[in-house]
Amino acid sequence: MCGIIGSTGEAASLNDLVEGLARLEYRGYDSAGVAVVRADGTLERIRAVDGTASLKLLAELTKDKSDGYIAGLGHTRWATHGRVTTDNAHPHFDCSGGVGVVHNGIVENFRELKSELEKGGHVFTSQTDTEVIAHLLEAYLKEGLSLKEAVTTSMSRLRGAMSFVAIDASDPKVLVATKRMAPLIVGSGQGINFVASDIPAILGKADCFYQVGDDQVVVVSPDGNRLFDLFGKAVELSEISVEWDLEAAARGGYQDFMSKEIFEQPSAVRDTLLGRVNEQGEIALDEMRLDPEELRRINKIFIVGCGTSYHAGMVAKYAIEHWTRLPVELDISSEFRYRDPVLDQQTLVIGVSQSGETLDTIAAMKEATMLGAKTLVVSNVMGSSMARAADAVLYTRAGPEIGVAATKTHTAQISALLVLALYLAQVRRSMYASEISEIYSEMFRLPEKIEQVLTSDAAIEEVAQSMVGVKRFYFIGRHVGYPVALEGALKLKEISYLPAEGYPAGELKHGPIAMIDSDAVVFGIVTRTRLWEKTISNVEEVRVRGAKIVLVANEGDTESIALGDAIFEVPQTHPLLAPVLDVIPLQLFAYHLALSLGNDVDRPRNLAKTVTVE
Ligand code: G6P
Repeated sequence: MCGIIGSTGEAASLNDLVEGLARLEYRGYDSAGVAVVRADGTLERIRAVDGTASLKLLAELTKDKSDGYIAGLGHTRWATHGRVTTDNAHPHFDCSGGVGVVHNGIVENFRELKSELEKGGHVFTSQTDTEVIAHLLEAYLKEGLSLKEAVTTSMSRLRGAMSFVAIDASDPKVLVATKRMAPLIVGSGQGINFVASDIPAILGKADCFYQVGDDQVVVVSPDGNRLFDLFGKAVELSEISVEWDLEAAARGGYQDFMSKEIFEQPSAVRDTLLGRVNEQGEIALDEMRLDPEELRRINKIFIVGCGTSYHAGMVAKYAIEHWTRLPVELDISSEFRYRDPVLDQQTLVIGVSQSGETLDTIAAMKEATMLGAKTLVVSNVMGSSMARAADAVLYTRAGPEIGVAATKTHTAQISALLVLALYLAQVRRSMYASEISEIYSEMFRLPEKIEQVLTSDAAIEEVAQSMVGVKRFYFIGRHVGYPVALEGALKLKEISYLPAEGYPAGELKHGPIAMIDSDAVVFGIVTRTRLWEKTISNVEEVRVRGAKIVLVANEGDTESIALGDAIFEVPQTHPLLAPVLDVIPLQLFAYHLALSLGNDVDRPRNLAKTVTVE
């Protein structure tokens, strides 16, 4: 997650570039920077690193520098490789300082390319993966290729999902950009042409917007935008029709942040998985700061978190225990430190926190450190308090989440925790390498499967609208279906304000079933796992007592489908990965019911996105 932008043309200005960047702030704000070609043919770089105020600082630093602007690039960073420092802030340059690059995504094979380039005499000044692109371009330009050819050839050597824009001061008016599985569009206006991560960045400045396809290369110059395929053949630009105003654009055209974030889950999960396998096909969590030897010494794990993060932790408990045979205890953060937990130097305490700032989880982690345990945090925010204090950190890469009810960070957390579980299994040799890589490959199919689940949005909306007036909801599941049930109920409570409870399906008969009557709606998580038959029996028990039944079931599972009054179908996957898919229809259901009730889904009453009180 980073935001990139470039502009050229007689009407182009540095102010517009910086303003466009500000509109990309939601994509990250660890640092911000621009590189501008001046009338004298020099490439000037201005970078700002000031946490959340980076863009404001950049605006100040560039305020009086608009004169002589020919073309330029801009970037707002959400750090993945290399700490948040000025050297690591974009744009990145080649050795000569004449080629500049801004980049979004990850160059997965950057280590191998970097060592090749270093052998060829290139000198690197940052720890980023991005810088290899600038040096690769330099190498190809030296061979006599044009910038367009150099970008095309470089792209064929870069692995991973990304987009980037390049500029070469020796041909100052031209920008060349490309993308693969990362957002990028071009736009044109009166005397100005743009390339940017998304439409909002240039809305109001460009009149027409065009798509860039994967592995296509676009040349943006004052006289127009031209698109090419990987073989250099011209491709016709296809226009995107845009009917947003500026306010809607901040939400990417969605009605609210919650729906935007629900629909961003394919990329949130994909970005979280990317770059975490090395050339040998092994999971490599280099950024984590705990070495394999330390992880081999661990003999017990605690997972702590609050709300949605706690539910992600619960999914991880099943996976870690199954794959590593390490005992895992799970705690609500606010309970953990007051119950005198038994831990020592061989215990690993994993804190799960989207913000990395939730006071209850910070306090739990502090308690763990005090008792001598190793700590690891799974967080979505680089440099958050927890990330700084913990021995180890594993970042989710969901991008900023604005809606109070967590959605994309939840599925990203589960994904990161599953990668961690597999990593522990790899380090401790509790699974065969082939088994690990098989599961990891299935994880990479999740983004596509999430896309598939999201296509049921309209059908789920219809079911939600039919349930306006229902007073009580229950969610039941077993094994990893249990945390899904809890999260489904929590989402509904948070934004619809209705009573909704999640239960382990087998526990109903020990009490909760007394509440079931024809006024109740019961959601059953019945995707195919080892416990499918047992869960179905539990669904039957509430069905015969008159409850209305909604089932989250696998596509084409006619036996399950026959039992529901409404069905939310999801594709099949590995049973321990299923929560990533199964929870999505429940997010959509909560969202649509809350909207039908007239509630503010982004700012539900009484809640805060980050709770910094005990
Ligand atoms: C608040 C939010 C929840 C969130 C919880 C934990 O209560 O309203 O949506 O799940 O905090 O937040 P964290 O940032 O630690 O994941």
